Amino acid sequence: IATGTRAIHPTDSTVSLWDRAQARGHHGGVFWMTGLPGAGKSTIARAAESRLFAQGIDVSVLDGDTLRAGLCADLGFSEADRTENVRRAAAVARILAETGQVVLVALISPRAADRDLARQVVGEGFQEIFVDADQAVCESRDPKGLYAAARAGRITGFTGIDAPYDVPENPDLRLATGQGSVAETADRLAAHVAGTVLLG
Ligand code: PPS
Repeated sequence: IATGTRAIHPTDSTVSLWDRAQARGHHGGVFWMTGLPGAGKSTIARAAESRLFAQGIDVSVLDGDTLRAGLCADLGFSEADRTENVRRAAAVARILAETGQVVLVALISPRAADRDLARQVVGEGFQEIFVDADQAVCESRDPKGLYAAARAGRITGFTGIDAPYDVPENPDLRLATGQGSVAETADRLAAHVAGTVLLG
């Protein structure tokens, strides 16, 4: 056991990304969906997932609530824990994308710096998708009752109320979920993803 340095020796796959893409008919990729609580990230991701699967695309969703039930169960909502949450999700997404999968990541990921970290961790094939709804719209939806809990002071550090959200400045795709149906928005995302990953 080395002291001071970490004796780790990562290996590279002998299966190329191109061979994997040809076997599946599509490239891998990571579509990082950021937005306020209640913006519709999980709903749109799941609806797009089923559309992409129906087109023969090997797709999975990494969702904040799901990750926090397992891999990230030790993390809360401090700035440092959110950064670590994003880092872990990005690391898993990279592994999946390197197997040739398409990964839809649905995380608030409120800090632009953390999303930039995710882009760096994933590397090639990363896209930022802004799931955009006004804070008032998200609060009126309040699917989990958490905005009400935050307003009542039962939750502190809630994104959009008393914790920050950095609006993406230059997303690869912006999905406005205040307009149009879930189906229309999911169609748009699925078309964008399929257009990006499918082999010509
Ligand atoms: S983050 O910021 O990216 O680490 O958050 P994420 O892993 O996506 O988890 C967000 C879901 O956790 C619930 N929740 C909170 N969100 C924001 N701030 C606080 N303080 C908080 N406490 C619990 C909330 O249900 C989020 O789900 P979504 O689907 O985004 O509404």
